[in-house]
Amino acid sequence: MVLPILLLLLVSCTSDSVPDPSGNQPDPDSGQTESDDRVLPSDGSTSPSDGEIRQISLLEVSKGLRVYIAHGCSQCHLLIDEGSETGPDLTLVGQRMTIDDLQAWIPEPQSVNPEADMPAQEIEPEDLEYLAIYLSTLK
Ligand code: HEC
Repeated sequence: MVLPILLLLLVSCTSDSVPDPSGNQPDPDSGQTESDDRVLPSDGSTSPSDGEIRQISLLEVSKGLRVYIAHGCSQCHLLIDEGSETGPDLTLVGQRMTIDDLQAWIPEPQSVNPEADMPAQEIEPEDLEYLAIYLSTLK
């Protein structure tokens, strides 16, 4: 009498704990996901000046892109062929600037370079961080 029930429990336990194989396999065209916070491979991260590798999530990157658009940075900057050429092309800005550089520059360019032509950008600290993370991945 008891045995079938135990077996049933056992079966339902094991089937619950079997990981979903689709989640664990490298997906060749990893486009469609529910993995907003999946960590990018190491070349998607930036190395802050102290040499630590910072892990960046796709969620942070997409939030940063939204901030870029919402703030109208493209009024003065090109990014992947879109925008204006008033300021430098930001398409590969992550090759030149780290997250820290960007967080210092964007709200107050003159604090980095007193001659800078870019007006200071008023931006919430949290948004600034996402924006800097996003731009740092462009390399
Ligand atoms: C009114 C025009 C204008 C706007 C708006 C503007 N920028 Fe700029 N930006 C510039 C100019 C001009 C420079 C070049 C400054 C210099 O070196 O003198 C610059 C430089 C930069 C740089 C340094 C790039 C490099 O390669 O040295 C970054 C990064 C940057 N801007 C990001 C942004 C972001 C992000 C926004 C939106 C939040 C933004 N900018 C909005 C005009 C603008």
